Amino acid sequence: MSSASFNTTSSFSDNTAESEAGACTEQTRRALLIGALVTTTCLACSTQVRAGEDPPGSDERPQKGDLLVFSEGDQEGKVITAADLSPGSPPVHAWPKDPKTSVVRSASRLNEILIIRLDPAELDEQTRARAVDGIIAYSAICSHAGCPVTAWVKSDVGDKEVFKCMCHNSEYDPRAGAQVVFGPAPRRLAALPLTLTESSLSVAGNFVGKVGGAQPG
Ligand code: FES
Repeated sequence: MSSASFNTTSSFSDNTAESEAGACTEQTRRALLIGALVTTTCLACSTQVRAGEDPPGSDERPQKGDLLVFSEGDQEGKVITAADLSPGSPPVHAWPKDPKTSVVRSASRLNEILIIRLDPAELDEQTRARAVDGIIAYSAICSHAGCPVTAWVKSDVGDKEVFKCMCHNSEYDPRAGAQVVFGPAPRRLAALPLTLTESSLSVAGNFVGKVGGAQPG
């Protein structure tokens, strides 16, 4: 009886243990499934984060050999050629682009460039030395408080058109190394030497001069 009781108890215990073991196995299986799901989800998240990050090199300053691409408008991302620039037309806004990796260096606003084509006879000696067929390039970042230089307008102090920063009206003459001709800007825009390779423009060297604003906005 006691044996039977024991057996019954034992059988009950075995059944309970089996049932608990089954429950544990089920829980473990579920835990593994959930774990796998979470891991997969996390991997997907991290892949998405990585995909959203700026590619390496995209915030580096223009490098020798970089191509130049349109930074805005219908042709955004297209490589700029000499044929895209007509003498005296407003400047084109551009980003440098690494020709080896195809990375456009647009992760830093300090990399935006103004490219303009002028009559070489209008350029002073130093500016002409950096130009190719009258094409010259400057940083698009105002040296006053770092606004983007956006306008190409007749100067307030002369009859020629100049680069103008609309934040506080600083003006720069691209024919004379982008020296300041009006407004509070303390120094000229940084210049970017260019070269022409099979009709495509490319960077011939580092910025000449400091890029960016001297004062907080
Ligand atoms: S930031 Fe350009 S004039 Fe002040």
